Amino acid sequence: MGEKHKVYFEPVGIEIEVDEEETILDAAFRHGVMLMHGCKEGQCSACKSFLIEGDLEMGKYSTFALNETELDEGYVLLCKSHAYSDLEIELLSFHDEMMNTGIPIQLVYAEVEAVEDLTHDIKKLVLNLVDPPELNFTPGQYAEIYIPGTEVHRAYSMSNTTTSDEKAEFIIKTYPGGRFSSLLSGGLEVGDRMKLKAPFGMFSLREKSEGDIIFVGGGSGMAPIWSILTHMAEKGIDRKATYYYGARTEKDLFYLDELAALEEKLPNFRFVPALSDADPDGNWNGETGLITDVVKRLEGDLSGTEAYLAGPPPMIDAAIPVLQMKGVDPDHVYFDKFTTTGEVEGSEQKEVRGPETGRVE
Ligand SMILES: Cc1cc2nc3c(=O)[nH]c(=O)nc-3n(C[C@H](O)[C@H](O)[C@H](O)COP(=O)(O)OP(=O)(O)OC[C@H]3O[C@@H](n4cnc5c(N)ncnc54)[C@H](O)[C@@H]3O)c2cc1C
Ligand code: FES
Repeated sequence: MGEKHKVYFEPVGIEIEVDEEETILDAAFRHGVMLMHGCKEGQCSACKSFLIEGDLEMGKYSTFALNETELDEGYVLLCKSHAYSDLEIELLSFHDEMMNTGIPIQLVYAEVEAVEDLTHDIKKLVLNLVDPPELNFTPGQYAEIYIPGTEVHRAYSMSNTTTSDEKAEFIIKTYPGGRFSSLLSGGLEVGDRMKLKAPFGMFSLREKSEGDIIFVGGGSGMAPIWSILTHMAEKGIDRKATYYYGARTEKDLFYLDELAALEEKLPNFRFVPALSDADPDGNWNGETGLITDVVKRLEGDLSGTEAYLAGPPPMIDAAIPVLQMKGVDPDHVYFDKFTTTGEVEGSEQKEVRGPETGRVE
């Protein structure tokens, strides 16, 4: 344990005690305060905040998440920051409904119940929760699943809701050589012991709102959106909602019957799949092109609409300006970027160690 310091957050007026050895984000979780975050790995920028006063040090992060100019101006990433004095920090955004949910972050031991093929490279992983036998989370949140036998973990969004007792389900894209995802192609057996920590993430339906919804997803980005849609069906939340889902070819699509069933249950819900590489000689008669182009083509004025985006970072980066151009308020664009844990191509990994002290002052 290191020295302790006080951290005061503006404008919410919350103060917590932080140990030098933990990140400010982890300290906030420990106090039951859910600050804005995404990857927790210095890759996505969701936790970017402004250091008003004090002395902190940041571990390795991507310059995509925090660039040189922002760093010079005093912006910091709370998932990578350690306090070395009392601090005053301004939160750039916060989620009122989630901030004090009181849902504790739990360490859960589980067993593999099933690994099923959804497509040629997307699998469904079902874990049977053993100790404790349940997991409380808000639909859209994610778990850190540990690679068996190591303390290394990867982030995966739960695709079910908490009504599926004693189970946590995930939709995972497999990468050859991927340390966790490749295990789903034969490396994990039914009954294997797994460890996970959850829930994390701020990607969740703003339930107090009545606004129309646009979902944009690609690949395994289906996972958190499927969880939110299942929750809407369970609770009868029938706000006008359109789900644009991008895939390359027909063999990359899945859950088509389930989504059609959801359209029956929620009369104001519409699913719009689109293929970016449709076979010209095939039978596909749905939308074609990049999913962002499809949104651009089909949608008119989106003022007052909330947007929820999940999947690969390039898809999200391309979708945000399109949605804003259509009138979506930037404060109402919520996203879950599936950043990778390792180095990101084209991004510099940076560690802020100032001249001698190694701190941002
Ligand atoms: C908040 C959050 C939620 C997430 N939720 C999900 C989810 O629900 N489902 C899901 O499938 N993933 C999700 N991810 C991504 C996931 O955490 C892993 O990064 C991904 O599964 C790769 O892990 P790995 O151990 O298999 O590969 P690693 O061992 O980390 O990577 C090894 C190699 O695999 C390849 N690779 C890995 N990721 C990519 C990529 N994105 N694009 C191209 N090549 C890649 C690269 O060659 C890389 O060098 C999420 C990420 C975050 C931050
Ligand atoms: S949560 Fe800090 S950069 Fe993603």
